[in-house]
Amino acid sequence: MTFESKAVPRHIAIVMDGNGRWAKKRFLPRFFGHKQGVDALVKVVQACIDRDIEYLTVFAFSSENWKRPSDEVSGLMGLVLAAVSRYLARMGAMGVRIRIVGDREAVSDKLRNAWNEAEASTRHNSKLTLNVAFNYGGRWDILQATKAAIKAGVPAEEMTEAKLSEFMAMSYAPDPDLFIRTGGEVRISNFMLWQVAYTEFVFSDCLWPEFGEAQLDSAIAAFRARDRRFGGVKEVPAAVGA
Ligand code: FPP
Repeated sequence: MTFESKAVPRHIAIVMDGNGRWAKKRFLPRFFGHKQGVDALVKVVQACIDRDIEYLTVFAFSSENWKRPSDEVSGLMGLVLAAVSRYLARMGAMGVRIRIVGDREAVSDKLRNAWNEAEASTRHNSKLTLNVAFNYGGRWDILQATKAAIKAGVPAEEMTEAKLSEFMAMSYAPDPDLFIRTGGEVRISNFMLWQVAYTEFVFSDCLWPEFGEAQLDSAIAAFRARDRRFGGVKEVPAAVGA
């Protein structure tokens, strides 16, 4: 593995923030911002496919989002159900493999069934894996992996970072190369804590419903300009005559 990578990121993770403010600016209920956010996501999925990105992970609903007003929570659940029935066939035709990551215990049977159908019907697709983080939190992921490893009987002396990674919810995906957060806030908000150890971060003021190809390209350009060393040092060519 080389320390520098000027290629496109293999895996992009996105915190799609700013839906509520987008709606407020237009004197619309917050729900319309989330609805517009789904349309933005579909466009970004296509843009990622066009750019040969292999994995896209989006934060659709965090473990902490239950604290929102109950009408917004139920609106988001309904929106996701509607989005699955509206876009599943299209995503399938685009070659997208859908994976849902997060605690499914707390969601309704209806939503769980929709998730299962989305995963089952797209499981053979290979253009892009879309991980939808739903009722997900980075701390939840580390905790569930730890519990699963204990249940599997992994002895303490055999527990390594690589071993624990096998139990994380997205163990099938490489760690994200690029993390994008829209909406102007500069924080991780409990997203993929374990996996972002050496990820490059790009924060954008753009509100998620307005995020499109141009903004994606500018984030990728910022990523490509970074000097990734993964904790090592960059090799400097030896001076002539040294
Ligand atoms: C943050 O904006 C956004 C969310 C909490 C929800 C994002 C969800 C979607 C775009 C829908 C995803 C659907 C599928 C099917 C994957 P915010 O409400 O925090 O905005 P604000 O910061 O402006 O208030």
